[in-house]
Amino acid sequence: MSRFEDVFGSAPEAQADAPGRVNLLGEHTDYNDGFVLPIAIAQQTHVAMRRAGGPAFSLHAAELGEAVRFTLDRAPAAHFASYVFGCLALARAQGADIPPLDIHVASDVPIGVGLSSSAALEVATLRCLRALLGLAMDDVQIAQLAQRAEIEYAGVRCGIMDQMASSLADTTRALLLDTRSLERRFVPLPAGSGVLVLDSGIARSLAASGYNQRRAECEEAARLLGVASLRDVEGIGQLAGLPDLLQRRARHVVSENARVLQAVDCAGPEDFGRLMNASHASLRDDYEVSTPGLDTLVALLQAQAGVFGARLTGAGFGGACVALCRAGAEREVAGAVLAAYAQAGGAGRQLVPPGG
Ligand code: GLA
Repeated sequence: MSRFEDVFGSAPEAQADAPGRVNLLGEHTDYNDGFVLPIAIAQQTHVAMRRAGGPAFSLHAAELGEAVRFTLDRAPAAHFASYVFGCLALARAQGADIPPLDIHVASDVPIGVGLSSSAALEVATLRCLRALLGLAMDDVQIAQLAQRAEIEYAGVRCGIMDQMASSLADTTRALLLDTRSLERRFVPLPAGSGVLVLDSGIARSLAASGYNQRRAECEEAARLLGVASLRDVEGIGQLAGLPDLLQRRARHVVSENARVLQAVDCAGPEDFGRLMNASHASLRDDYEVSTPGLDTLVALLQAQAGVFGARLTGAGFGGACVALCRAGAEREVAGAVLAAYAQAGGAGRQLVPPGG
């Protein structure tokens, strides 16, 4: 894997890291002003920068083996570059004086599985820019700018969970975040439990796959209910007058918000796991963002003695599943489940703990 020095000949002036995240509970709630409960993962994206000699930016992505040259006047065509370009362009629009840069990106955050590789890239880029230019941006402002980069330059009308998690979470405690007020606190994992993440091997495409459509459905439901967002719905009973499809979408959001708050108060890993199982059922039946492959993998996880609960994680439509396991049982569970999944025709892999 290349380093900055290998590509650009000498050392960078600034470097920064940002982690991916896995969401434990609170799916598709963030763009409804609701509650989420992500935790950072060990895999990180590393960005290094130096002022360039010439008039253009050079961006090199080690894993992709791709290099792109651009100026801030025109967005580069390469998709991965749009995240970096978006961060640079928005920072400039906020008044930062950004000289042409040599930029190197190296990452072990799995791409396209729902572990926020794009947020990690955005947050690491902005952290590196802050370090290089001495910008006055705190971690919340970095998350907010990163979210705008994703919406305005990558075309996904995402909420703020991923960028807040990458910017503020750590790997030892979950981050309970109120996405409306951005109030937050760290919450320990239930005693005696650990996190396992498996990739289903099913490819997923966020923008094309109906994410933006789900968001539009939620906005329509809120409009019909006369509330600013589905966060403001007080109970399922309030949804009765909605057309069937919107009722199911809204029921997922309202019940999922309640599950996050219950999980934070819950006594132990068994209760937490039950809430994760209920979340999966709701994502599958009401929100319709699961796939048969994800359902198979989740069912295999849920059937293991060492698993308290399991669900798809991230936007859905493919990608990864998360399970809460008995602490220390993660690798054994992964081995058994991946073997059974392979027998059922799937091709999964262990993502967290890394190196499985
Ligand atoms: C993606 C988005 C997040 C969030 C999740 C679903 O990861 O980027 O904002 O909406 O999907 O919970």
